[in-house]
Parts: sequence; C-alpha cells; structure tokens
Amino acid sequence: MRSLLPNTAVIIPAAGSGERLGADLPKALVQLVGQTLVEHAVSRATPIASQIIVAAPAEYVNQIRTFFGDLVEVIAGGTTRTQSVKLALARVRENIQYVLVHDAARSLASTQLFERVIAELESGEQAVIPVLAVTDTVKKVNKKGYVTKTPNRSKLRAVQTPQGFTREVLTWAHAQDLEGTDDASLVENLNIDVKTIPGEVNALKITTPEDIETATKYLIGSELVDLRVGVGTDAHAYSDDPFRPMWLAGLLWEGHPGVDGHSDGDVAAHAICDSLFAATGLGDLGSNFGVDRPEYAKAAGAKLLSETLSIISAAGFEIHNVSVQIVGNKPKIGPRRAEAIKALSSALGGAPVSVTATTTDGLGFTGEGKGLSAIATSLVVLKR
Ligand code: CTP
Ligand code: MG
Repeated sequence: MRSLLPNTAVIIPAAGSGERLGADLPKALVQLVGQTLVEHAVSRATPIASQIIVAAPAEYVNQIRTFFGDLVEVIAGGTTRTQSVKLALARVRENIQYVLVHDAARSLASTQLFERVIAELESGEQAVIPVLAVTDTVKKVNKKGYVTKTPNRSKLRAVQTPQGFTREVLTWAHAQDLEGTDDASLVENLNIDVKTIPGEVNALKITTPEDIETATKYLIGSELVDLRVGVGTDAHAYSDDPFRPMWLAGLLWEGHPGVDGHSDGDVAAHAICDSLFAATGLGDLGSNFGVDRPEYAKAAGAKLLSETLSIISAAGFEIHNVSVQIVGNKPKIGPRRAEAIKALSSALGGAPVSVTATTTDGLGFTGEGKGLSAIATSLVVLKR
C-alpha cells in the first residue's frame, strides 16, 4: 500500500444478501470474470488504502478472510447497509484521517476514482461523492402509482461510491443513529457541505443478472483481465473388442462400439483437458496423465477433467468457458447434447461448456468410420 498518501481507511459494505441478483450465494461472493465481486472491489481500493475493512455476511466471514489474508480486516456486517458501515467504522484505526465507504457491489470503480475522492478531501472538503448526470426523467409517485412531481432533471444526479469523508465527519454522522441508503445522506443531515465530483460508468452498482453481463463486458478487453486461450485435439480408433464400452463426452453410449486407448478413450474429455493445459501453459495430457502414470490407466474422462481442473485451479486459473466439437459418423450427439454438456460441465466445477458435432463427408479416418476425434477450445482467466 502507498505510504505517501494520507492515512485513508476504506470500508467496504459487502454484507447484503443480493436478493435482486438471485444467485445462490451472497452478492459479494458472486464471480465476475474469475474473481468475486468483493475481491474486485478490494483490489481496486488496495493501492490507496492504509486500512481496509470488509463488512461481510456473518456466515461467510471466514471464507472471505481466506481471500485476503492479513491485508484486509473482515468483520460480520449488520442488518442494514448503514449498520454494516457503522460496525466497520468502529474498527477504523486511531491514526486514520480519511474514511472512504465503497459498496462491494460497485466492484469495478477504478483506483483513479478513489484517488480523485481523496484529492478533494486533501484540498479541504469534508465530504465528497462521485455522481453521474441523470439521463431519464425522474418522477415522484404516490402509493397509488400516480405522479405527484417531476423534479428538474438538470439538477438531479445519480450517486455512486466511493464516498469520502474526514474521519470526524463520518463518525459524527453515524452517531445520529439514522438510516440512509448512502453515507452522504447522513452527513447532509448535519448541514455539512457534500461536494460532488464526476463518477464513472464503470462504477455501476451490480444489482441484477443483467448488471453482471454489463460488468463482464467492461472487464473483458480491459487490461485488468488476463485471458488466455488454448486448443486441444484427440483421436481414437474404434476397438476390435466388441465388449469395449463407448465413453464419449462424459457419457456411456450403450450399444455403440468403444474406442481403444490408455484411458477410457473419451476423445471429447481428452481434447478439453489438452485445451485447458494449452491455455494455462501447464503441459499437456501426456505430461500430466501419460502412460507412465498407471493410476490413470482406463481413467474416466470425467476424472481427467476434474484432475485437470484441480491442477489449473492450483496455478491460479479459472475457466471462463469451454467449447468442444466431436468429429465422427456415430454416435449421433444431438439427442444427448444437453446430457453431455451437463456431464462435462459438472466435471469442470460448473464451468460453461458447449458441445457440437460434425461428420466429415466420408473423408479421412472419421469419415471412413475408423474412429472418432474431437477438437476443443478453452478460455481461462488468470486470477490476480
Ligand atoms: N450491504 C451491507 N449490509 C447490509 C446490506 C447491504 O453491507 N445489511 C451492502 C451490500 O453488500 C452492497 C451494498 O451494501 O455491497 C449496497 O447494497 P445492495 O446493492 O442493495 O446489495 P444487497 O443488499 O446485497 O442486494 P439486494 O438489495 O438486491 O438484496
Ligand atoms: Mg440491498
């Protein structure tokens, strides 16, 4: 953390349940291109902070601690956002001059935005908030759904975080024991001037599944994301042994002749493993599970996929998506495509997988019905 900057603490309220996002985890733990939302928020605050306090859902405190080690203090949040901030504020160190409050849900607000807020505090402001002009006309409506007022749009602003305050002002504001949807509203109550500065489109509050898509688009292609692609192929000849089972795309295909191979001969699974090793630069199928590793003789494709996932995860990679094409005359993949996708994806920890198939118009060993092949592409993200 930079030491030349004034002593700044960043409080990250992250204790919400994320009801509107509708994931099976609290919002702070939802993944966005290889990192959870709270990790994104913390990584952008880290360069400017002397102290970072995350208010987390009580039952996830320990898990979130493992993300950050000693860098971040993780505490259990409260029942409302204001309560979560208040609990974190009580942990701010004595020597801290400025406190920035930043929603974990605004995961992509840039470090520059934090710096601009701090610059205003340094120039003497006591409360600083980033805002955007409102493009929609905003109406006030009553309980029955009738419009009661149309405020002048040119005077309206949409408010973001990080919101910055001198420590004294924020402490005083929270001592009022009032509730607000942001911290500036508590400060306004004290008749203290709140300065607005230009916000960022990137600092959107991730609230709905559509917001995750928007945020993904902001991230992909930005220099903040290290994406890597890899390709893998595999081919096996049909076996002369009529009893050899046919395993393909993680499924058993009853009544189809199997293929020969050191393992179960699942060309789709093997091509995917190789594409993952290629994307991550961690060797290939042979170097990881080759014939010199007897424990992998006849190994199921699903097992090799899970092992590959463990190897690449340990090296810090996360799968963004995997696509595999099976090349051969039979079996016909279409009727079992959904099943195959499910089997492959679950072996890969739920990663998005697509499965396509083609014949080769009678050409080559696949067209002549001598065997099967598959080609796979994987996109992975190196987590930072
Ligand atoms: N927050 C918090 N403690 C609470 C409620 C919310 O720390 N008791 C945090 C959220 O984790 C989020 C920020 O306040 O980072 C803004 O809240 P919001 O975007 O509304 O998140 P959720 O409350 O999780 O979402 P929802 O309202 O859809 O349930
Ligand atoms: Mg909420």
